[in-house]
Amino acid sequence: MHEEDLRYMENSSTSSSMDKRSIHEEDHGEWKDSPLSSSSLYKQCRVFSLAEIKLATNDFDDALVIGKGGFGKVYKGRAISDTKKDGCDSGGVATASVQVVQPSEDISTQNLKNFTYSELDTATSNFQHDRLIGEGAFGRVFKGWLDKVTYTPQKACDGLPVAIKKLYPESMQGLEEWQAEVNFLGKFSHPNLVKLLGYCQENKKLLLVYEYMQKESLDKHLFRKLGKALPWYTRIKIAIGAAQGLAFLHNIENNVICRDVKTSNILLDEEFNAKLSDFGLAKLGPTDGETHLSTCIMGTYGYAAPEYVVTGCLYVKSDVYGFGVVMLEIITGLQVVDPNRHAMKRNLVDWARPFLRNKKRIHSIMDPRLEHDYPTNAAHKVAELILTCLEPFPDDRPSMEEIVLGLQDINAIKMKPRKSKANTTHEELSVSLDNKLVYQRSRSLVQQYSGIIPYPER
Ligand SMILES: Nc1ncnc2c1ncn2[C@@H]1O[C@H](COP(=O)(O)OP(=O)(O)OP(=O)(O)O)[C@@H](O)[C@H]1O
Ligand SMILES: [Mg+2]
Repeated sequence: MHEEDLRYMENSSTSSSMDKRSIHEEDHGEWKDSPLSSSSLYKQCRVFSLAEIKLATNDFDDALVIGKGGFGKVYKGRAISDTKKDGCDSGGVATASVQVVQPSEDISTQNLKNFTYSELDTATSNFQHDRLIGEGAFGRVFKGWLDKVTYTPQKACDGLPVAIKKLYPESMQGLEEWQAEVNFLGKFSHPNLVKLLGYCQENKKLLLVYEYMQKESLDKHLFRKLGKALPWYTRIKIAIGAAQGLAFLHNIENNVICRDVKTSNILLDEEFNAKLSDFGLAKLGPTDGETHLSTCIMGTYGYAAPEYVVTGCLYVKSDVYGFGVVMLEIITGLQVVDPNRHAMKRNLVDWARPFLRNKKRIHSIMDPRLEHDYPTNAAHKVAELILTCLEPFPDDRPSMEEIVLGLQDINAIKMKPRKSKANTTHEELSVSLDNKLVYQRSRSLVQQYSGIIPYPER
């Protein structure tokens, strides 16, 4: 990682793209030291070029295939090592298994459209700047329009709105993400996973076409204040949707670890139903009684579970930790890592933990935009749930199924009628007579709706 990149990350509060880079080695396969990568763990991964991998696998020779998973074939390859690492000299040629992700052969038989670049260019008015919805680590997302049935491009505001992700052509990592995303979303479908409509691969141009989610991503509502503040029950509804999506991925048949659970990957439709997006880093979970995978450290800083960041061991419950962080962001309205915050609060998890443990103090970390409009009991239960998700050991964390049930219980906790809101009832007037403001508001409401002057003016 370049020094400049690190500096940018330090000074940026919103750059999720740099955050993602921050926990994996980038840059052309060279071993580089950076404050984040100085631990030997970060040096376990090397980014290979496609040419190197082709060389190592005899140009993906079928004779070297040793298995096939949900995300592609695994080839046995030969990697040339000319460096002496950890005191162990390979002496020239070492044999290694190289996992190469390629779109599955049956991709064309899936329900995905193979778009031409020109179609997507037309659908977005030449990727015009005012169509830009967002930007991530691997590319930009534009809004476009297609015919609802044929998926042919349409002019703006006509037909089906879609989100088109255009990957940066120079990003090798982007190619792997693109391939994994196509294979993954071509295979799985669920109401809480975003729908992939098609893809485009032309020369070095890689694009993905998704259903457009009208309310875009959760981070924009929580941190960038898009629209009105999200009320309590909407926040819980979103959390339930995201939890259901993860529970589906984690179930025994699917056995998928998402690896990139975060608020910018939780998309929202018109009714604030949540759908998970971005499966470029997803992995098939451990099999044959294994508890975890040992893998390169990828994901987004702040959301990645401690056991994964420290050891490279990825558990299904590493996603649960990320979900706990998301829940914490949902209730506080604060981003997990924000260098612009006071040093004490810079890491949300560290700062919030003592408040989550203490029922009397939980209110002081709740998002002020909620205006105390949530049931206290529900806030306590959410705090308990978050704490279990953030347990340092994966085994101590709940499963996503358990979290869904816990959140449904929390959702069932009803708000005590508020005294200061427009829904103040007539009965409440008698108990709030000592509150001048409430009294006057309620009085005017009763008067407005019934025409009766309920109490003498004070
Ligand atoms: N299907 C979609 N509908 C509406 N908006 C979307 C859709 N997909 C992505 N976006 C918007 O585009 C933004 C960029 O998405 P992208 O996945 O490229 O990056 P990211 O999730 O912000 O970061 P990262 O690349 O680190 O995952 C998202 O934050 C979201 O607001
Ligand atoms: Mg994303």
